Amino acid sequence: MAKAKTQYACTECGGTSSKWAGQCPACAQWNTLVESVVESAANRFGVQAKGLVQGAPVMRLSDIEAEDVPRFGTGIDEFDRVLGGGLVPGGVVLIGGDPGIGKSTLLLQALANLSRVKSALYVSGEESGAQIALRARRLGIDAGDLHLQAEIQLEKIIGTLTEQKPQVAVVDSIQTLFSDALTSAPGSVAQVRECAAQLTRFAKQSGVTIILVGHVTKEGALAGPRVLEHIVDTVLYFEGDTHSSFRLVRAFKNRFGAVNELGVFAMTDKGLKGVSNPSALFLSQHDAQVPGSCVMVTQEGTRPLLVEIQALVDASHVPNARRLSVGLEQNRLAMLLAVLHRHAGVAAFDQDVFINAVGGVKITEPAADLAVLLAIQSSMRSKPLPRGLVTFGEVGLAGEIRPAPRGQERLREAAKLGFSMALVPKANLPKQKIEGLQVIGVERIDEAMTKVREFS
Ligand SMILES: Nc1ncnc2c1ncn2[C@@H]1O[C@H](COP(=O)(O)OP(=O)(O)OP(=O)(O)O)[C@@H](O)[C@H]1O
Ligand SMILES: [Mg+2]
Repeated sequence: MAKAKTQYACTECGGTSSKWAGQCPACAQWNTLVESVVESAANRFGVQAKGLVQGAPVMRLSDIEAEDVPRFGTGIDEFDRVLGGGLVPGGVVLIGGDPGIGKSTLLLQALANLSRVKSALYVSGEESGAQIALRARRLGIDAGDLHLQAEIQLEKIIGTLTEQKPQVAVVDSIQTLFSDALTSAPGSVAQVRECAAQLTRFAKQSGVTIILVGHVTKEGALAGPRVLEHIVDTVLYFEGDTHSSFRLVRAFKNRFGAVNELGVFAMTDKGLKGVSNPSALFLSQHDAQVPGSCVMVTQEGTRPLLVEIQALVDASHVPNARRLSVGLEQNRLAMLLAVLHRHAGVAAFDQDVFINAVGGVKITEPAADLAVLLAIQSSMRSKPLPRGLVTFGEVGLAGEIRPAPRGQERLREAAKLGFSMALVPKANLPKQKIEGLQVIGVERIDEAMTKVREFS
């Protein structure tokens, strides 16, 4: 087969060039030229492009028959939950996560379950068959009818998929694949994009469900082009501290279900086990209350989760005081400190401020604001917050405290876990009394700070 012609296209302006250059000749941006396959019009339409080309038929939307998406479970409840109820035929799922977090383990477990009812194929570009067999043995997996291929060339993989006609296939990982059509190395932006696009096209045409494993960069984003996330139907991320045994799988995008569902797993020597009642997982155990620690209730999808937010405020010895956050948004911390100063009169400009969400969870919702500020204030005063206190609420730039969605559910979960006091936005005050929980509503940040000082 003749080698496909390639060209270099600019990721910024779309300009093309036949040779690679450091600077795009069209828009003068640096380092934006990426190799891609030239698709001739004849190639794209399968006909000589003469005049008008016949496209797909135009239909009335109401005439198109569509049933509910048929789903099939993976046999791992927590995994099905993040997937929005299970896998969808022809759907493409991308799973990203830090090295060694358990991507291959989870997929091997899921595929082994699936292989009992469906035909399944595991394509590995990273590990040999023997390595995977060893893992399966260690995990005590009954691999049943699971087929395996160790291959990294895209065309051969698609060939196998066409021939074997599996119903589900895992490709581990997309960064190891390479297509013959491109000359760039596996893992390069062009290769990753091309391989993902081809596999997606194949999945849509054939109805095979494909699960792709993706590497993440140091910043935690999926390595390779950002378009990768647009190409696939579902994007899942593995989160969690590799040093602790808990792992979270979070849906980042899902064309077939709600996002923000969370799957919680524990890594054991028998692989990943689902944790069905995870709400108290991220509380660290202190014998006595410590300063700088505040428990918040965050709502992940349909389940509330209690997370401990820790803050450390220390005199700064550098001209620009440091603001560091782990698991929470860095920019938001600077903003919150400004609100704290302006509206509650607590200054931290000469202090280093560190905040951390315990257990490697990432909290993206603004309802963490109040907990962050309470923890900061507690650390500054070296006074612990009252025992059994739990909080949530968004803090606005005007110093107001805004309600968080599903306040009642959060409060009920906190009460269930034995918390006795809750400091929440006034609009989240429950209509009926919650057994064992004293709920205090606040409207402004200074009011919240005063209330807490009264109790500790
Ligand atoms: N013998 C063992 N006993 C218990 N846990 C183990 C054992 N061997 C490996 N593990 C766990 O399995 C994890 C590796 O999982 P896995 O290979 O699925 O990760 P991965 O996300 O696929 O990594 P990579 O990105 O390198 O492919 C290790 O981090 C470790 O926690
Ligand atoms: Mg792996």
